[in-house]
Amino acid sequence: MRVGIPKEIKNHEYRVGLTPASVFDVVQAGHEVIVETQAGCGIDFDDDDYRAVGASIVDTAADVFAGADMIVKVKEPQAQEVAMLEARHILFTYLHLAADKPQTEGLMASGATCIAYETVTSPNRSLPLLKPMSEVAGRMSIQAGAHYLEKEQGGRGILLGGVPGVAPANVVIIGGGVAGLNAAQMAVGLRADVTIYDISNDRLAELSTNFGATIKTGYASKAAIAAAVQDAHLVVGAVLVPGGAAPKLITREMLKTMKRGSVIVDIAIDQGGCFETSRATTHDNPVYEEEGIIHYCVANMPGAVARTSTFALNNATLPYVIQLANKGPEKAMADNPHLAAGLNVSDGKIRYEAVAEALDLPFN
Ligand SMILES: NC(=O)c1ccc[n+]([C@@H]2O[C@H](COP(=O)([O-])OP(=O)(O)OC[C@H]3O[C@@H](n4cnc5c(N)ncnc54)[C@H](O)[C@@H]3O)[C@@H](O)[C@H]2O)c1
Repeated sequence: MRVGIPKEIKNHEYRVGLTPASVFDVVQAGHEVIVETQAGCGIDFDDDDYRAVGASIVDTAADVFAGADMIVKVKEPQAQEVAMLEARHILFTYLHLAADKPQTEGLMASGATCIAYETVTSPNRSLPLLKPMSEVAGRMSIQAGAHYLEKEQGGRGILLGGVPGVAPANVVIIGGGVAGLNAAQMAVGLRADVTIYDISNDRLAELSTNFGATIKTGYASKAAIAAAVQDAHLVVGAVLVPGGAAPKLITREMLKTMKRGSVIVDIAIDQGGCFETSRATTHDNPVYEEEGIIHYCVANMPGAVARTSTFALNNATLPYVIQLANKGPEKAMADNPHLAAGLNVSDGKIRYEAVAEALDLPFN
């Protein structure tokens, strides 16, 4: 199969669909890889790095789309990319179609086979191609929180770990899934005082076993959260209701009870956010203040650490890229129902029920 890697064109997107190391494995499996010039330059992969592992470099995205059978990307295709898709193409990337009718209709019109990273499943019912980005965002949340707690950034002037003789900061994490777990690991590593709240008792038990005495856990009742945020210096929102908007767990009234100069990091902002006062921000201007509390609400946190994120994403996507290339999409999906769960659009039809429902379009 001919696998194509166009340069990402979404604003501030430096990640790339396949690293040179991944291209090496795809080429070794007997496939051709076509890479747009400078596709990886934002994270220091140059054209020679791709040539060295057997890829051919072409001048434009149009050359990639014309020469390839399968397009591997990171972000959802932009309008000019959708326009280059044809029925013979397989598209493998994040799509997030439920909130994007124009893109969905464009993909339907193309006739291409469109497989979304975010709906591929795994035997333990998790979402293996979303997980690496939650890991990155969870870990980053503590880094960002520590930064904005500094006085010069408008924060309270607190060091997360304290020092001998001075108490550490109080970090409250709401939602102890993948992002919450990774946030806790970083906060514990910095010696902060960490409490994780969740509504899943099973998850709380796992976290408690995992972390031992280095964290506290709490059931996320309204009263418990209201009490916890009053004493917190950093609150991380990391809840997820699969397929739904994030519940607003921290109201403006609760925010008013917090210490001035404290920081909230709302990782769940990509699902609408779990603080009443959250609104999405960008890496250009990541924070704003409400009720004396600094809000960090960047909807694509992993983009800031594009090199780490690209490697993390490739570690998860590469086995599926190779399955698709080796077997072709029909056989690959017939053999692997978890990959088949990624199919969102093909032959002009929506193949993912939740997307059809969300957009009020027919499901086939
Ligand atoms: N901003 C970003 O750049 C970025 C990047 C990656 C992921 N995310 C988002 O981070 C969020 C967390 O993702 P994840 O992969 O960790 O999800 P996950 O499913 O692994 O974990 C979510 C946790 O939230 C808990 N939860 C659900 N409702 C709750 C409630 N009312 N109170 C307390 N806990 C509750 C669940 O029990 C679960 O343990 C998602 O919204 C995801 O889209 C954002």
